[in-house]
Amino acid sequence: MFDELRSRVVFVTGGASGIGAGIVDAFLAEGATVISADLSLDEGLKQSGERRWTVRLDVSNETAVEGVLDAITQTVGTVDVVLTAAGTSTMGFSTETTGSDWDRNLDVNAKGSFLVARGVARRLVEADLTGRIIFISSQAGKNGYRGMTAYVASKHAVLGITKTMAVELAPRGITVNAICPGIIETPMKHRERIEGGAIRGMTADEVAAEDRSQVPLGRTGTTQDVSGVALFLASDLASYMTGQGLNVTGGMTMH
Ligand SMILES: NC(=O)c1ccc[n+]([C@@H]2O[C@H](COP(=O)([O-])OP(=O)(O)OC[C@H]3O[C@@H](n4cnc5c(N)ncnc54)[C@H](O)[C@@H]3O)[C@@H](O)[C@H]2O)c1
Repeated sequence: MFDELRSRVVFVTGGASGIGAGIVDAFLAEGATVISADLSLDEGLKQSGERRWTVRLDVSNETAVEGVLDAITQTVGTVDVVLTAAGTSTMGFSTETTGSDWDRNLDVNAKGSFLVARGVARRLVEADLTGRIIFISSQAGKNGYRGMTAYVASKHAVLGITKTMAVELAPRGITVNAICPGIIETPMKHRERIEGGAIRGMTADEVAAEDRSQVPLGRTGTTQDVSGVALFLASDLASYMTGQGLNVTGGMTMH
């Protein structure tokens, strides 16, 4: 669909599950070279297909992020497109949220996304190349959601990072945007329905029914709903867009 993506080196964090895994598959199908990094993968940068690489990475570990990006630059090439889908969440009302819940959400979702984007941006600037930074924020980066204060704060932070890096990197021809997914069927969402339902006195099935009732398009999202927008943002069609948070929510969030 997007021939220009065939020449791109694409780095996807959180690539082993859910939205990140969907993004890996979508870019591979376009002919891109894709490196999937995830906490759950094996140590060391390994080639696992003609254009597919995998590596273990904790995105909240600054030294590890730099080490993995150095290895990719030397072995695969400079990353042209980065997608930060690694993420975590904890469920708990604000009055019950602990400092460690706060740290976990902010460390992975905000700091981890920033460290990865910073590392890619530095290397693009050093090599005098243009590129695309695409964060996975959330509609929780734009609204408040009960029982998710630390997560909501971390996703608002991602949109702040998006806007700031967009302004700073625009003169270098590097665009920076975020996707704000709504309710997407992934392992994280299934766990959240169980844990979030428990603190609200609801079953996971009741939360799932409530989820569907809130989406104007009448269904929750698939990982393909998100990966299609990721492809668009990485493509030449999106070259005049930067600093945006694009809702992929079936109409649930409209601002
Ligand atoms: N599912 C949704 O409804 C939804 C909605 C909005 C935003 N998001 C965001 O999309 C992203 C992907 O979520 P998902 O639903 O696919 O979840 P998921 O749990 O299926 O996948 C997340 C992946 O991130 C990895 N990960 C977690 N911590 C990591 C770390 N420190 N370093 C590297 N990898 C790490 C996990 O191992 C996992 O493979 C997250 O940032 C999430 O906040 C999800």
